Amino acid sequence: MRTLSLRDGRLLPALGLGTWLSKPDAVRQAVRRAIEVGYRHIDCAWIYQNEAEVGAGINEAIRAGDVRREELWVTTKLWNDAHAPEAVRPALERSLKLLGLDYVDLYLVHWPVAHKAGVTRPQSPDEFISLNDLPLSKTWSAMVSLPESGLAQHVGVSNFSLSKIDAITDAVGAAPDVNQIEMHPFNAQADVVAGLKERGIVATAYSPLGSSGRPPGMKNEGELDLLGSGAVATIAAAHDASPAQVLIAWALERGTSVIPKSTNADRIAQNFAADKLQLSDEDIASIAALDQGARYVSGDFWCPPGSPYTVEELWA
Ligand code: A2P
Repeated sequence: MRTLSLRDGRLLPALGLGTWLSKPDAVRQAVRRAIEVGYRHIDCAWIYQNEAEVGAGINEAIRAGDVRREELWVTTKLWNDAHAPEAVRPALERSLKLLGLDYVDLYLVHWPVAHKAGVTRPQSPDEFISLNDLPLSKTWSAMVSLPESGLAQHVGVSNFSLSKIDAITDAVGAAPDVNQIEMHPFNAQADVVAGLKERGIVATAYSPLGSSGRPPGMKNEGELDLLGSGAVATIAAAHDASPAQVLIAWALERGTSVIPKSTNADRIAQNFAADKLQLSDEDIASIAALDQGARYVSGDFWCPPGSPYTVEELWA
């Protein structure tokens, strides 16, 4: 399986299992299945509210002798209500307890957005904290002290623009190891991928299949159908592969990590097999033509009237 090298030389398995929107009662089996077919990278987050079940799957696989802990790469994420420096380590400890693990391989700041302590999802604008009042550099200072504790071996960010990454790197004197962002052919973000590479930061693609399983309330009107794209289907047919495999192979081919979510046993195996699919230069060129900077996860939910956040500033 392809790996990507971090600055300290540690290798991140490029293809991982995503668990956003994986139902708690399905994700334990999904994780076991993934490990059985060869995945060695599991991505989760406190806010997905299934860390206990993800951890149960990991621990069952370890107990069954399918894998050793040190062979696995486990990522989880700091939620927005724990950006205060003194809240960072307790939040990680809470995730570790749920996961039933002694450490994670990677801990990410989930969003460049802060909520008041204990506010999981703000119901009113005053439940946010502005970045002026709680700068990302303060959170990042607390994050970079975690590897020394052994509780998280690496630290990084998610949904951060290059300018936000530069600002926290300059302020703290240490860059993230990883930035996890939405990437797929409709939102290729080639400039961000290149910028992260220059900075020695691994890029991980979330929603690589278009997250078609999002509930209707989270979908945008007239949303593009990534798995149904004609161009992707044509390439898939030529390789006797599925559209999902083409999307995953594309992400791997461009040197990013990628975390397709599935709780279906066959699709978990099918997605893992995409590592073997070799796309041609023509395939890559025809996929490049699909880019239109279209995000499925626009971030507008952080920006209701009166919020200290705007969509432009979020991605700027
Ligand atoms: P399921 O869990 O039932 O397999 P993303 O990774 O972009 O968030 O997309 C996840 C969505 O894509 C889920 O709804 C998932 O459903 C579906 N999915 C995952 N793998 C495949 C596949 N190989 N073919 C079609 N749909 C897939």
